[in-house]
Amino acid sequence: MKKALSAISGHGYKVLFSDEAYIALSLLLKTENYSSIFILVDKHTEIYCLPVFLKYFLELKDADVLTIKAGEENKHLKTCQEVWQELSDLGADRKSLLINVGGGVVTDLGGFVAAAFKRGIDFVNVPTTLLSMVDASVGGKTGVDFGGLKNQIGIITHPRMVIIDIHYLNTLPENEYRSGYAEMLKHGIIRDKFYFKRLSEYKYLKDIGIEDYIHHSISIKNAVVKEDPHELNLRKILNFGHTLGHAIETNFLKNPKKTTLLHGEAIAVGMITEAYLATKLCGLDLSVAEDIKKVFLRIFPKLNFTKEDLVSIMDLLRYDKKNSHGKVKFVLLHALGQPAIDIEVPSQNLIDAFEFYRRN
Ligand SMILES: NC(=O)c1ccc[n+]([C@@H]2O[C@H](COP(=O)([O-])OP(=O)(O)OC[C@H]3O[C@@H](n4cnc5c(N)ncnc54)[C@H](O)[C@@H]3O)[C@@H](O)[C@H]2O)c1
Repeated sequence: MKKALSAISGHGYKVLFSDEAYIALSLLLKTENYSSIFILVDKHTEIYCLPVFLKYFLELKDADVLTIKAGEENKHLKTCQEVWQELSDLGADRKSLLINVGGGVVTDLGGFVAAAFKRGIDFVNVPTTLLSMVDASVGGKTGVDFGGLKNQIGIITHPRMVIIDIHYLNTLPENEYRSGYAEMLKHGIIRDKFYFKRLSEYKYLKDIGIEDYIHHSISIKNAVVKEDPHELNLRKILNFGHTLGHAIETNFLKNPKKTTLLHGEAIAVGMITEAYLATKLCGLDLSVAEDIKKVFLRIFPKLNFTKEDLVSIMDLLRYDKKNSHGKVKFVLLHALGQPAIDIEVPSQNLIDAFEFYRRN
């Protein structure tokens, strides 16, 4: 029998795996004696994931289920308001618990809803996408999009625990799987070049020991967050690929003629273009940038960026959360596993980076 993976200690909470996680949640429910328990899902996780979760918790079969619409386009304050209203109508109080069963949209929004409701109620994250397992559900960032910009409103707050159960991934669509894979590759690029190399060998991770890789990715993120929970320095490295990635994602999100990009798809382009910037500004070897490009283009189809897209993306960079004193600050790389923070980038380099992405 496979040995259970060890728990990872976060900021006052634990990330637990499989049966051990469910046992720990049972214990938490007993010891905390919550006045009421609510389960937040979206329309898809209600169908695919809630039944799996409830199999472990017969006592929760009568818990109130709060269902939001699925997708990034619903990660905004109006949805929060609806959930707060439901919590109020159903008599939630300060001793209530919210269990978020879903992808990054549910855990980001649910964590924020819980943190603000009556100045803070407990919440537990049960991530059901690869991306939310390795990234969104750990590290304490919660929040929603605002005014068409990603994650503009939010706070850092931590769940009581995170439950990782890879069985939820059985129903995850292939493209969503790839989205999480992109974040895992990022963990390798910024912290562990051997991990990046190992992950690069697979087209999809599905058929290999995915749980061990999830554990490793969470450990990397968690170690960084623990050292710098409020992103004053080191934590910025987790944003590699995200400065351009978020601007690209927002550009697609706000343009009704474009399909919405998955987070992973957008940051994959971000990582390719930022790797190129690193060759110009941080001495990264061009062959490494080419490697990064090759790996991501094996996973994601190439996107087309028009002149208008580039103008809009450059404009959106102004809103990046890492900016200070009116300057856009990038996370780049000296080498694989050796990130550089707070790098300013001239506009011409940005244009060249998209040309690098476009070139065959
Ligand atoms: N807080 C953080 O540190 C952090 C880090 C990275 C990303 N994020 C955020 O996470 C969000 C993206 O997360 P995501 O990719 O999980 O998106 P998501 O929550 O929108 O989930 C993707 C889709 O998969 C569906 N789904 C979820 N689990 C499923 C399952 N097991 N089976 C079938 N369908 C399932 C969802 O309903 C949705 O349609 C973004 O809003 C991003 O900003 C946050």
